[in-house]
Amino acid sequence: MSFPNNRMQRLRTSESMRRFVRQTALSVDNLVYPLFVKDGKGLKEPIESMTDCFHFSPDTIVREAEQVAKAGIPAVILFGLPKKKDEIGSLAWAENGVVQQAIREIKKAVPQLLVITDVCLCAYTRSGHCGMLKDNKIDNDSTCELLAKVALSHAYAGADIVAPSDMMDGRVGYIRQCLEKNGFHDTAIMAYSAKYASAFYGPFRDAADSAPAFGDRKSYQMDTANSDQAMQEIALDIEEGTDIVMIKPALCFLDIIYRAKQRFDCPIAAYNVSGEYMMLNVAAQAGLLDKKSAMLEMLCSIKRAGADIIITYFAREAAKLLKS
Ligand code: PBG
Repeated sequence: MSFPNNRMQRLRTSESMRRFVRQTALSVDNLVYPLFVKDGKGLKEPIESMTDCFHFSPDTIVREAEQVAKAGIPAVILFGLPKKKDEIGSLAWAENGVVQQAIREIKKAVPQLLVITDVCLCAYTRSGHCGMLKDNKIDNDSTCELLAKVALSHAYAGADIVAPSDMMDGRVGYIRQCLEKNGFHDTAIMAYSAKYASAFYGPFRDAADSAPAFGDRKSYQMDTANSDQAMQEIALDIEEGTDIVMIKPALCFLDIIYRAKQRFDCPIAAYNVSGEYMMLNVAAQAGLLDKKSAMLEMLCSIKRAGADIIITYFAREAAKLLKS
């Protein structure tokens, strides 16, 4: 008879006791805060689809980056909205593109803040797809060459980590070789390795103006029903030279995070995406749940599943609570 020898509630009787046996600790050290940078001057425009998120210009993003660093958050990830789009997304690798400008400004003002850049073409191409099109189909290999150019331009501007989010096959290898050839031996890669064709990117696509003009991303992003393929994707990216792997989105894919953590030894990042963020915000605005507790529970679940790094729009808010 295990009862009353064992009473599980003994270790839950007080906050001190609960704290004493708590297994998962969230830390500001592993958070990444996403920032959107748009062509212009003096901008801080609220993003309608995403609570408390803004479009900055390369000059104003610096002040924001300083605040992020002050909050103890070690890294930001940058997304760009270019002045104009074209067939090949050429402003994605322009020396004076918005992201390239923002990287230079941020690294000058806050050198200790890690600057990660999203490497993709969807916000830069007229089609809104993540790659080059040939006969209305994604042309994987020519896209890889362009992505390597984008990553290299970010490295030249001073990015610490480049993060390809396009899901082309072989792009990590292309990027790694290109960085090595140009002397960027220490630029790290954080590949969006297992990125699913998820419905939870909706608010982001409004924010980044990157929705596909036709069709969807199902021919290159992963089918949401698959799990083994995620392990294959991750193994390939590691072989091709990524330093960190990412699983995205986080919440519907905690099993993938868990599996990856059991199987691979490199740092695992998880992206708590815009739809997950807004689901909670809208519910909280409707008075249906307590935002702070729900947020911490959400972030903790991602960590508990095995994520070493969490990319989240909640980073600023979470940092406040984790410090106090
Ligand atoms: C670009 C990219 C997307 C996100 C990050 N990088 C959109 C997409 O793939 O459609 C989504 C981020 C979020 O929803 O928070 N390819």
